[in-house]
Amino acid sequence: MARSSSGLGRRPLKAEITGSTPVRATKGKFIISLFCKIFLINHMPRFEKHIFICENKSEAGHPRGCCSEKGSVEIRELFKKQLKELGLNPKVRANNSGCLDACEFGPTVLIYPEQIWYGGVKSEDVEEIIQNHIINNELVKRLLIQDKRFLSNGGQQK
Ligand code: FES
Repeated sequence: MARSSSGLGRRPLKAEITGSTPVRATKGKFIISLFCKIFLINHMPRFEKHIFICENKSEAGHPRGCCSEKGSVEIRELFKKQLKELGLNPKVRANNSGCLDACEFGPTVLIYPEQIWYGGVKSEDVEEIIQNHIINNELVKRLLIQDKRFLSNGGQQK
């Protein structure tokens, strides 16, 4: 009978005899690791940031206007191109969307998960949005739609 460090007698573990890790402990670690991976896969967002660019086209003369007539298609293409060049795919995705009901503020860009609404976005603003908002998590305040319906936190922005 082997002696433990506490001085109480007990049978030695096989691992203590052979110097290997006990099989049960290895299986336990594997199962915990597997549960952790499954948990992370099921609880991590598909994208870290998801950018929606409205490309809706309303009939000519619509009183609220529409984003596509203000250049939103080019803006979406620029987002895609720059995200790819910066290697931000696939964690950040830019998609076209239908009307986001902010037509008079368009071109409209909506970014999740923060639910930040940018309006009057121009092609030359795309790089700034990517650098500030997407990469550095800082709002581009000058482009925020200044209407309480589109300001998160009840209109209080950081
Ligand atoms: S047309 Fe773009 S928000 Fe309505």
